[in-house]
Amino acid sequence: MVTNRTFTMLKPDAVEKGHIGAILEKISVSGFRIVAMKLTQMTKNDAEAFYAVHKERPFFGELVEYMTRGPIVAAVLEKENAVEDFRTLIGATNPADAAEGTIRKLFANSISENAVHGSDSNDNAAIEGAFHFSGREMF
Ligand code: RTP
Ligand code: MG
Repeated sequence: MVTNRTFTMLKPDAVEKGHIGAILEKISVSGFRIVAMKLTQMTKNDAEAFYAVHKERPFFGELVEYMTRGPIVAAVLEKENAVEDFRTLIGATNPADAAEGTIRKLFANSISENAVHGSDSNDNAAIEGAFHFSGREMF
């Protein structure tokens, strides 16, 4: 069911620092099933489209530069209450404000480079999953 899915990216900083395995382990032990997953790199056009909601924000250029500078892990995850529970698991946007034990508290550097993305609604989870995966890549 679409309402039980969310979309995530392990961002370039997390991949660069070798944290893919540790973050996937936390995701897995937290009860999320991997529906789709791949190592990929976003183009400038991809990142501008993916984060279009932020295009008027002062950090938009920096965000696009960051998200395109190296590979990411894109994944669709399934769990009851997936969107909300995954946002809880990743923690606040700024790791300085993130709760103990959250992925951003453990692995993020700063509000700009914060290791992981999580969809903020069921509608966006479906849009973002379809941005990165075809139907035949979701299991
Ligand atoms: P995300 O969409 O990546 O899951 O992050 P989020 O919902 O927690 O935060 P959002 O407000 O959607 O911001 C998207 C991403 O933009 C970067 N950002 N930089 N320099 C800044 O003040 C700033 N604010 C946001 C972060 O990479 C953030 O995750
Ligand atoms: Mg967001």
